[in-house]
Amino acid sequence: MLDELRKLPDSTISAVEALEEVRIRAVYCPVSSSLHIQSLAAKYSTILVESPLRIHVVKADLTPQLATLMPEIVDEVQSALSDEMPICKDWTAINANNVLLRVIARVSGRIFVGEETCRNEEWMGISIDYTNVAFAASFGIKKWHPQLRPFVYRFLSDYRRAVQLGIDAKRIIGPLVSRRIKAEAEGGKDYQKPNDSLQWLMDRATETERRDLDKMTREQLSLSLAAIHTTTMGVLQALNELAPRPEYIQPLREELRTVLNQNDGVFTKRTMEQLKKLDSFMKECNRMNPVTVASFRRKILRDVTLSDGTQLRAGTVLLAPSDAIAHDDKHLQSASTFDGFRWARMREEHSGLQAGREQYVAVSDKAMQFGYGRHACPGRFFAANEIKIILANLLLNYEIKMLDGAHERYPNQLWDSNLMPDRTKEFMFKRNQA
Ligand code: HEM
Repeated sequence: MLDELRKLPDSTISAVEALEEVRIRAVYCPVSSSLHIQSLAAKYSTILVESPLRIHVVKADLTPQLATLMPEIVDEVQSALSDEMPICKDWTAINANNVLLRVIARVSGRIFVGEETCRNEEWMGISIDYTNVAFAASFGIKKWHPQLRPFVYRFLSDYRRAVQLGIDAKRIIGPLVSRRIKAEAEGGKDYQKPNDSLQWLMDRATETERRDLDKMTREQLSLSLAAIHTTTMGVLQALNELAPRPEYIQPLREELRTVLNQNDGVFTKRTMEQLKKLDSFMKECNRMNPVTVASFRRKILRDVTLSDGTQLRAGTVLLAPSDAIAHDDKHLQSASTFDGFRWARMREEHSGLQAGREQYVAVSDKAMQFGYGRHACPGRFFAANEIKIILANLLLNYEIKMLDGAHERYPNQLWDSNLMPDRTKEFMFKRNQA
């Protein structure tokens, strides 16, 4: 019934209210046991859930400008990788998660707050830590009886740390906003506005909102929360699938060299579109290792009767069994097998709309790794470019393998409905001499 559900208005079926919900229990697969599905318990975690402004900025400013922003994304990926990755002339064990978090915090930061601030160590630390701490606060509060939660949450250490990170963030974002407001007022028509999400937020906010430094800081932090860890997991999952499967490395490199040759060695929007094997590999990694095993989390706000007679009462929280669907042979041949280039082959066989559905960023009722419907992830187009450029640079400049010649990927961990790569694990890297 997903197609029917996605067409219902937000006043009937709400993504925001589902995230605010504190206790949810759901059965995600008919043959498996039930799961406690994680919710954000937002009001006890400082996380800003309802933010039409942030969503609008991603959809109306960031995504349409991706082609123009490419040089900045590429520049930051390359400079962050050269700063964060050891030289590795010999095989070197590296905790890829720690490196990638810093690289992605910088690359997202470049587009969110500009070149200078994205490299500011304090801002990088805040934008990385805030997600961990705010999620810990949301997990922590659920150990308490619901009636006690409104009283105890302020005293919990993770909540207090999240509040403190918000205060620290405002010390950086606040003066940036104030300087920009002043420069705009003084510079008149000659003032060249920075082209980043902080500016887009300011431009789309009301006059009162843009002067509210708490609001601007929270919006900015909430973008980092949505973007940094999710994108890091995207790259980490690709390494997890690539390192034990060296047979993929050569074809991916060959495609990269061919496509780059055709584009004067430059990563552009066109280069991104032509990297079909890499796109396919990323999509397969996402299918096998989604960030959540149960997607399309929504709360019913008004009683609904669906066309098959199913009645949904107000207050019900729904989740789609997205991972079970993605692994169902009914929808995809050999669905339980990892086949990195299946989507590239399917794109060759199809054309037009159908081929579009086989891209990494495509969302459907069979591919809900980025959610589904009106509230599907708006940041996926930016994430796709970041992940492609990072993987391209790693593939072209480094040899990659598992530790101790292992041939199995590191197992994922399931936290409630969240599927996470093991962030403590290391991979072997060696600088490519070619
Ligand atoms: C590989 C990286 C990413 C993954 C796997 C991912 C995944 C998701 C998922 C599953 C949702 C929920 C969708 C739904 O309920 O239907 C979501 C929502 C969202 N994501 Fe992402 N995301 C990623 C990167 C990003 C980035 C880079 C940004 C910002 C630039 C972003 C911004 C958002 C926002 C604002 C929402 C809320 C949308 C709404 O409620 O309308 N995400 N994301």
